[in-house]
Amino acid sequence: MIVCSCNVLSDAQVRETCARSDAPRSPGQVYQCLGCSPQCGRCARTIRGIMDEALSKACDTCPAACPAAGPVAAD
Ligand code: FES
Repeated sequence: MIVCSCNVLSDAQVRETCARSDAPRSPGQVYQCLGCSPQCGRCARTIRGIMDEALSKACDTCPAACPAAGPVAAD
């Protein structure tokens, strides 16, 4: 599905970009990684949502001691 009509970017392209080892940290970096730049900006919120979803799935695979998962419970 096309999520950015200005740059003709699909949700699959955004997800693939988020799966890279040097994953983008902002929608602006997603555009940059995909070789374009924001035009009207209407898609930024959608791209952010795809990024959040992709990163939350990645956190499901982290070890329990991952610092990004928050404080580690004391045993
Ligand atoms: S729809 Fe993505 S910049 Fe316009």
